[in-house]
Amino acid sequence: MKCSRILGTGGYLPARVVTNADLEAQVETTDAWIRERTGIEKRHLVSEGETCCDLAEIAARRALAAAQLDPADLDLILVATTTPDQFFPSTACLLQQRLDVHGCPAFDLQAVCAGFVYAVDVADKYIRSGAAKHVLVVGAEAISRLVDWTDRTTCVLFGDGAGAVVLGAADAPGILSTHIHADGAYAELLQVPGGHGNGRPELATLEMRGNEVFRFAVTTLGRIVDETLEANGLTKDDIDWLIPHQANIRIIQATARKLDLPLERVIVTVAEHGNTSSASIPLALDQAVRDGRIQRGQTLLMEAFGGGFTWGSVLVRY
Ligand code: ACO
Repeated sequence: MKCSRILGTGGYLPARVVTNADLEAQVETTDAWIRERTGIEKRHLVSEGETCCDLAEIAARRALAAAQLDPADLDLILVATTTPDQFFPSTACLLQQRLDVHGCPAFDLQAVCAGFVYAVDVADKYIRSGAAKHVLVVGAEAISRLVDWTDRTTCVLFGDGAGAVVLGAADAPGILSTHIHADGAYAELLQVPGGHGNGRPELATLEMRGNEVFRFAVTTLGRIVDETLEANGLTKDDIDWLIPHQANIRIIQATARKLDLPLERVIVTVAEHGNTSSASIPLALDQAVRDGRIQRGQTLLMEAFGGGFTWGSVLVRY
């Protein structure tokens, strides 16, 4: 049976930068509060007319170039997003058209901040089964479009962006294991309750009971780390890099402590990117690959937690 490995990575952040100081002018908040409670200093946001697919296309082209592949080599296109350009066609189909490839399957996958981990799980299974040789996996969000910019408890947290990987069939992993979970019992703690789909457009912004989400995320991510190491017969010492979903520096620190990893071995982008939902892990991965911190042969643990609740991990020999 074939395995899958990461052939190339790419990322893109929109040009517009919004600092904590900019937000101080909009809502009752302070730079000090945002830094202390979240670790965030600034975020990139889409400009008017710029869409999730615009970000996805640039990240995808960069990942394809890094993998030294053409779009025509792809057998499957997966886009993890909560903020598609349209109800339909999917952002994956829109992206496929922009890449000028035709015929291969393309679909979106929605698991909010755990979307990228979910999509890698699916892509890995396609490759292992022999159904695909090259899969483009993109995590892309214009999540600022779901944010209530008058709600200080949520608007300071999020940013837009896209990250991508190209996975290819290989004789040895690559992706060592993937673990995904969900529990819809917690839907109300983190949700966009309305929207055009249920005739409640006035409720089409994000609501979060931050404190409860925080506590659940810390416990759950601790468990998923244990599950992943145990499934692979590894110990904490075998992990070279932790690449967490970037929601809050305090959640990241808690998971790093669980692994006894110093923060120097954790890829942290939350200060510059904010929470870019499904884009955060592939963006962090791409940044650390390009700046040379992540090297071939190293063991990477990615983990994410998001609305649903959804959560999961990917263990990779890069
Ligand atoms: N500026 C100033 N004060 C604020 C702000 C702000 N931006 N936001 C909230 N406050 C106030 C609150 O009103 C509250 O005031 P009160 O004590 O007078 O009532 C006080 O600060 C403390 O609020 P808490 O909510 O208890 O603050 P907390 O330390 O929990 O931090 C935060 C809030 C940052 C949202 C945190 O709970 C968190 O990160 N939660 C998890 C987020 C997450 O991981 N989400 C999952 C992924 S996202 C996805 O899937 C889409």
